[in-house]
Amino acid sequence: MSQDELKIAAARAALSHVEDGMKLGIGTGSTANAFIQLLAERVGEGLRVVGVPTSEQTARLCLELGVPLTALDEAPRLDLCIDGADEIDPNLNLTKGGGGALLREKIVAHAAAKFIVIADESKLVPALGTFPLPIEVNPFGLEATRRNIEDAYAALGLSGEARLRVRDGQPFETDGGHIILDASFGHISDPKALSDALHAIPGVVEHGMFIGMTSLAIVAGSESVRVLEAPKA
Ligand code: 5RP
Repeated sequence: MSQDELKIAAARAALSHVEDGMKLGIGTGSTANAFIQLLAERVGEGLRVVGVPTSEQTARLCLELGVPLTALDEAPRLDLCIDGADEIDPNLNLTKGGGGALLREKIVAHAAAKFIVIADESKLVPALGTFPLPIEVNPFGLEATRRNIEDAYAALGLSGEARLRVRDGQPFETDGGHIILDASFGHISDPKALSDALHAIPGVVEHGMFIGMTSLAIVAGSESVRVLEAPKA
């Protein structure tokens, strides 16, 4: 199976968790897009759901395909959120934000009673950090914030560069009007310590580690689609 077929297989398996009447957080990225396509088919057949999109891109696709949407302020408690990921570790901690939607993705996932991540098996990693960690920052004082970020991770024994994400020759701007630094560490041994250190820096809006948030991971491989549960705390 191709990677796209695996994404569709994971998305199809996630659809079985969607029930009539649910308020759904809807993720961003190519795997989430596969889910939206399948969800739209079910909506066409009469499934009644209302979605809260995690990005403008997702909102556009949902509207195009006829998936009803509302704002998180109108539905602040969601039944379920379904989204993709860039990395999934054995504790189902995630790296997200490859598509730049990490802030809204985290807010929406946190508002949901259940958070299901869908992915092909290439996203499974022994530890987070191979995929550069997206750190969303306010553009004001970028260099000061970048230095504080580098000092914070150096204090945790991590090294690597925090690079400004650029698209079409310009700093990539998130839906919230912020910018992203992608920090390459190679291996994050203590995601919680890094998360706390980043959250303590003024100018850091959010980072792409989703720690202890995932209820289930639905991971498609060439042999089977596996449903992984987070280990009990
Ligand atoms: C977007 C994300 C995506 O979920 C993540 O990048 C995975 O994308 P894809 O399904 O295209 O591999 O976090 O901000």
